[in-house]
Amino acid sequence: MELASIQGLKGKVSVPGDKSISHRCIMFGSIANGTTEIHNFLKGADCLATIRCFQAMGINIEETDHTITVHGNGLHGLSAPSNILDVGNSGTTTRLLSGILAGQKFESKLSGDESLNSRPMKRIIEPLTMMGANISSVLRNGCAPLYITPGDLHGIHYNSPVSSAQVKSCVLLAGLYADGETSVTEPSLSRNHTELMLREFGADIRTLHSLSGTEATAYIKPCPELYGQKITVPGDISSAAYFIAAGLIVPDSEILIENAGINPTRSGILKVCEDMGGDITLLNERCEGGEKIADILVRTSSLHGITIEGDIIPTLIDEIPIIAVMAAVADGTTVIKDAAELKVKETDRIETVTDNLKAMGCSVTPTEDGMIITGGTLHGASIHTLLDHRIAMAFSIAALVADGTTKILDSKCVDVSYPAFYDTFEQLL
Ligand code: S3P
Repeated sequence: MELASIQGLKGKVSVPGDKSISHRCIMFGSIANGTTEIHNFLKGADCLATIRCFQAMGINIEETDHTITVHGNGLHGLSAPSNILDVGNSGTTTRLLSGILAGQKFESKLSGDESLNSRPMKRIIEPLTMMGANISSVLRNGCAPLYITPGDLHGIHYNSPVSSAQVKSCVLLAGLYADGETSVTEPSLSRNHTELMLREFGADIRTLHSLSGTEATAYIKPCPELYGQKITVPGDISSAAYFIAAGLIVPDSEILIENAGINPTRSGILKVCEDMGGDITLLNERCEGGEKIADILVRTSSLHGITIEGDIIPTLIDEIPIIAVMAAVADGTTVIKDAAELKVKETDRIETVTDNLKAMGCSVTPTEDGMIITGGTLHGASIHTLLDHRIAMAFSIAALVADGTTKILDSKCVDVSYPAFYDTFEQLL
């Protein structure tokens, strides 16, 4: 994809359904009794991988243009897959599905692409093993392929060293199959879609926040059954983030992003934009299925550098590439700290973000847990996405404010979370 600078992005966009929520609808719908009807499901490669995995375990999932219908088979209604489950590029599929597979009476293997198979899985192998699961890394390197055989699961309390919704959700899902209550404490609250949605499906699940610090603990009790739901997936704030940034940094712009999820465990990007001086207004705020939603109006603003650190990091972890792009054209210096988790995403995003910003002429220094960026003028360059969808999209926005032409290599990787990204873009031009 070749892009050049523009001015005056104006209009309305709707972003596709939330990726995290779309995965969970399929998973919970598959192990619920009855039918789950999903509207605004994200048909990105990651969520399609989740659909294929459950179809491979005998779940009937029907797709039409606008609706996905999952015919759930109950908590114990999955059947043994005849092949290795292919999780593609998706960490969410791998980690959440492992929690469910740990509670099944059949053996299974799952494996993904090169990036997925190099991401850390010890973080789920350890707590699942503590619960009595039999799960191992086939190559004994702490990564997928994973091999899971039946085990009797016990309720545990797990103190997670990282704030990770994938780890938390994995343990909570295994907890559905345990012999007693399971709880997970994390250093600060990560996205809570699992907790909100499992409750809607009828699970006995609650979260308590520590009074003295930032810790949060989710508790789940095994339950006899879950019940199919009708769900409209909110627009993905992580996809909206690219248009929020475009609206703020492209001169003479005004963009309305409709129906975006603004769950507080996901909306750190909004606070950061405001703190950087961005003109952002939330309109039409509402709540559906426990999830907050709003329309987001953004107008061109002159941004300034800030420090981003601490508890807010888990609420914007996927948005750091696009935040870095905004920082690269803001006035002054932005410091991003406490974000070492970036190293274990689809790529090492400290490296991919800083390497590509440098290629565009930005003054940026990678650090152990983040980066330091001094704003200035960006120049067109060849962007090496390393097949990371968020790098492709973030740098497509950078291209709009850079001198000359920017080439996004392997831009097709946007299909992972936002297949219509470039079409939506054109709509605004
Ligand atoms: C996700 C959780 C986050 C996020 C990922 C989706 C989820 O990962 O980066 O894109 O759906 O639970 P971690 O939980 O590992 O931080």
